[in-house]
Amino acid sequence: MTSHIDIDPAILYFGTPVALLSTLNEDGTTNLMPMSSVFWLGRTAVLGVGASSQTARNLRDRPEIVINLPSVDLVGQVDRLALTTGSAQLSPAKAARGYAFVADKYARAGLTPYGSETVLPTSVAECPVHLEGRVSSVHDLGAPKLVAVEVGVTAVRVAPELRLDGHPHRIDPDRWRPLMMSFQHFYGLGDRVHPSSLASIDEELYR
Ligand SMILES: Cc1cc2nc3c(=O)[nH]c(=O)nc-3n(C[C@H](O)[C@H](O)[C@H](O)COP(=O)(O)O)c2cc1C
Repeated sequence: MTSHIDIDPAILYFGTPVALLSTLNEDGTTNLMPMSSVFWLGRTAVLGVGASSQTARNLRDRPEIVINLPSVDLVGQVDRLALTTGSAQLSPAKAARGYAFVADKYARAGLTPYGSETVLPTSVAECPVHLEGRVSSVHDLGAPKLVAVEVGVTAVRVAPELRLDGHPHRIDPDRWRPLMMSFQHFYGLGDRVHPSSLASIDEELYR
């Protein structure tokens, strides 16, 4: 017996990290899309993306991407990209919600393009984590038009200060301060709350 009640929320955004997706426009410029429906399994990232976004179109035609992860201090720059699209033809739904076409998302956000190593879209210099990758498949999730994009990560580049002392290929989770989104609002992470039994497994065993 619980005192739980049935509710019918319009969204189920219970809290995920924010990412800025870099993809290549037809004219060779890079589009930036703020998003937060992302998770990782091994070296694969899975991204939930609106099928009519410029990002989805770019990924179908030019399947290279950088998943830039902003730290919490970049929230102002990320928020300046909200309600923008790189698509010149605004869908009626986006127009009704107050979206505007923005050709240069870097200028809009006050962010700096940075040459990527293994893909053509530029990375976001200010983001401490750049995950470069190639799309391996796109799955239709049905209505409302959403796709799940599978990305094989080809390069991981991080700000050096994020690394765990004595482990050049590991991230120190106490130094990584991701920007999080929960029910359309921005949050940061708090401190560690409990010792982790899973963390007793050597990370290298996951290779
Ligand atoms: C913080 C934040 C998180 C978002 N998360 C997602 C998401 O996970 N998936 C998605 O399709 N759109 C998400 N959006 C909305 C997209 O950014 C929006 O559809 C945008 O117009 C897409 O850009 P594009 O058309 O230039 O690709 C999010 C927006 C913000 C500001």
